[in-house]
Amino acid sequence: MRMASPDLVRQPDRSLQAASASSVLARSIFSDVWAFPGRPLSSNTESDLDINVVRALMQPEGCGPSAFSHSPAIQPAGPRPDFTLAPPLRLAHAVSYLMRTLLRGILSAALALFLPCRLPAADSTLAGSGKATTNRYEFRAEHSRDGIGKFYMGREIAHVMGHLAADWLERPERDAEEHTETMVELLRVEPGTVVADIGAGTGYFARRLARKVGSGGKVLAVDIQPEMLTLLEKNMAAAGVTNVQTVLGTITDPKLPPRSVDLVLMVDVYHEFDHPYEMMQAIVTSLRPGGRVAFVEFRGEDPKVPIKELHKMTEAQVKKEMADLPLTWVETIRTLPRQNIIVFRKR
Ligand SMILES: C[S@@+](CC[C@H](N)C(=O)[O-])C[C@H]1O[C@@H](n2cnc3c(N)ncnc32)[C@H](O)[C@@H]1O
Repeated sequence: MRMASPDLVRQPDRSLQAASASSVLARSIFSDVWAFPGRPLSSNTESDLDINVVRALMQPEGCGPSAFSHSPAIQPAGPRPDFTLAPPLRLAHAVSYLMRTLLRGILSAALALFLPCRLPAADSTLAGSGKATTNRYEFRAEHSRDGIGKFYMGREIAHVMGHLAADWLERPERDAEEHTETMVELLRVEPGTVVADIGAGTGYFARRLARKVGSGGKVLAVDIQPEMLTLLEKNMAAAGVTNVQTVLGTITDPKLPPRSVDLVLMVDVYHEFDHPYEMMQAIVTSLRPGGRVAFVEFRGEDPKVPIKELHKMTEAQVKKEMADLPLTWVETIRTLPRQNIIVFRKR
């Protein structure tokens, strides 16, 4: 059973806070200027007066409904507006209203232009990293309880599996369920090569890859949870494996040397990446020319695969998310019972 990580409580995203602050501010400004017909008339006496003046202008005494009256939003909550003002006073109110509206319009337009320059980019976690800070991600208040409320290309990013659930990765029935030994064979790992196992967890695959690359090769086992890397190191020592090197990555960077890796493997990991685009940019940089990257993901196309939806991915979604990167799709291996192996090569 896949578990959300109870131990990895996410701090509120600063970029999200900044974005909502600007949105609230912008909405409060614009609602005053543009959305007043939607406000309850009883909430603001000054605006009530404004609306009354407009009504007075548009709906002279004794005439039929005004141009707005079809909208229930502007039906006055209290008594009918007072249309008994003397005409010069009505004109003075109208002129004053129009002047204030014009002034608010100019002010809000100036603020709207100025604000985006002053607020940090929505992806502020990348500040100073030298990476692109474009708004690739969307945040939704309503989202799955299995996800973090952050969406990339229409897909919600799943919670990271916490180290407290590490035993699940080493369960004895795993090979019978996922054909893990076959999976490693299908990757066609060459002796003497460098393989990066990103999101290595307890090292279930790193151990098997270590045998394939042999003493002339190396496995770089990357994870963002130090506890996982501690477990992995213990497991390597117990198995007598010496050609696996652990690397503590970050949510945007696996911290691999550039142009050094022949194969990047991600088993049941990519859908958890907090910053999938930035991670993939760094992964491509770490690959040697012609190097491969293999995604092993539970099949999102198959409702019979007994894994939560957010922890699965379709082949089409993986391809869509790789389209912006200098990668060429090579093959999709669909012969495993539950997962697809989707392979790309660095261009
Ligand atoms: C479901 S476990 C899979 C572990 C391993 N691949 C396996 O199949 O046995 C996912 C792992 O990915 C790690 N992870 C999540 N996001 C990561 C990132 N951006 N960089 C490196 N590791 C990450 C998690 O900490 C967790 O250990």
